[in-house]
Amino acid sequence: MSLSEDNVQLDNRFYVLITGANSGLGLGVGRRLIDEFLETRPESESLILIVTTRDKRKGDATVEQLHDHLLKTCRNLEKTRPGSSALLQRRVHFRQEILDLLSLLSVQTLSKRLRETTPKIDVVICNAGIGGWTGLNWGYAVWTILTNWKNAVTWPEFKIAGVGWVTKAQIPSLENGETVEEPPLGEVFCANFFGHYLLGHYLAPLLARHAESEQTKGRLIWVSSVEGYTHSLDMNDIQGIEAEEAYMSTKRLTDIMGITSTLPSTAKITDRYLDRSGPSEKTTKPRIYVAHPGICGTSIFPLNFILEYCMLFAFYMARWLGSQWHPITVEKGACALVWLALAKQSTLDTMEEREGAGKWGSATDWFGNERVERTEVEGWGWGGKLGDKRKWKNRSPYAKDLTQEDRETFEETGKTCWAEMEKLRLEWEKRLDDAGVGVKME
Ligand SMILES: NC(=O)c1ccc[n+]([C@@H]2O[C@H](COP(=O)([O-])OP(=O)(O)OC[C@H]3O[C@@H](n4cnc5c(N)ncnc54)[C@H](OP(=O)(O)O)[C@@H]3O)[C@@H](O)[C@H]2O)c1
Repeated sequence: MSLSEDNVQLDNRFYVLITGANSGLGLGVGRRLIDEFLETRPESESLILIVTTRDKRKGDATVEQLHDHLLKTCRNLEKTRPGSSALLQRRVHFRQEILDLLSLLSVQTLSKRLRETTPKIDVVICNAGIGGWTGLNWGYAVWTILTNWKNAVTWPEFKIAGVGWVTKAQIPSLENGETVEEPPLGEVFCANFFGHYLLGHYLAPLLARHAESEQTKGRLIWVSSVEGYTHSLDMNDIQGIEAEEAYMSTKRLTDIMGITSTLPSTAKITDRYLDRSGPSEKTTKPRIYVAHPGICGTSIFPLNFILEYCMLFAFYMARWLGSQWHPITVEKGACALVWLALAKQSTLDTMEEREGAGKWGSATDWFGNERVERTEVEGWGWGGKLGDKRKWKNRSPYAKDLTQEDRETFEETGKTCWAEMEKLRLEWEKRLDDAGVGVKME
């Protein structure tokens, strides 16, 4: 088969990898992606969904659930397109992989495997994550919910987070039982950000596209949250190990780095991160997009059966009181992520040219009709444009109008974060290599 024939065939296959696909939002993204892909893409195109979970049992269960969903979708579509079911089913393929983001070796092992077995990847959805919370300040929760319901369940300040959490040792102990000394790696930071950061770097060659033949760019979708304020991230503790809220620290880092990755001032460093050092002039640079699901009823905050219902009630009340950030179900929460995965490159590029790079969120109206909505980011606004004063009603309690100074600080902080993350990546790669356990990608 000639190279061009091979490219045509590859163009018809759309590869999407979802991390943490076995529960909550990850499962919602998988289901919604199947539906939207079958409804919007031509019949000649097929979807290869690579789901990652922490073990095979979870992977089997995930593929089974997604397969059942595919059958259901096909049965429904058969009603309007008689005779199409078999063809539709053949257009979706599942593959499962193991990934534990708390182990850098697991990230490297999966990346190597994918590089050896997969011709390309179109989209990586960096969904997996942990909250790192240990409980709730119940008194404060009840008080703030009763006095300021909508804000209290949109930007809650009553969650209690674990402090000082670090991952298990990254380097396995030696045969004689001795352990190799290594610096601490923040647990929430590693699960939510750094593991995905390494994954994106290693998969960058699979995300690069032929500049001449392909109109689209490979996409890394980083999953953020409505939470993540300027004060959440301490540049002296970028891993958030001592942070009061490590979760918010990782989400602020995601926002800052994702958005500044599009700016000329970070181009040199993101070129290095996205592996543009080799013969890359014939390929397009992958893009990083930031998205969030709004607020959904998942088990990221573990609650018992009764409290789970109370939580859902609180979320619906918030929606009815005017919050746009309560999609509540994971299918609705997946709206922005799936849109970013499937949207035409020209659509995304035009929107960004007009309004600047942004953070894309899943929002709903009072009735639960979902839509994708730009989200205000402290120090960046809705798109980095001064004088943009939309949606006054749905601003976080810490939001303030964007000033030139804030915008400059945001960009500077972004550059510093990129430099710090690249430094950390190289340090950890060297450390693993020196210990003789690092996985070589070639
Ligand atoms: N729910 C919300 O309201 C909300 C709001 C904003 C943002 N988000 C974001 O949405 C994403 C998904 O959250 P969710 O609400 O769907 O939570 P969830 O139901 O708890 O799902 C989290 C997923 O991440 C996986 N995971 C956790 N640690 C991992 C690790 N070390 N390695 C690999 N996978 C790991 C989990 O796998 P296991 O089953 O093996 O633990 C699970 O599949 C997170 O990034 C979260 O920050 C959620």
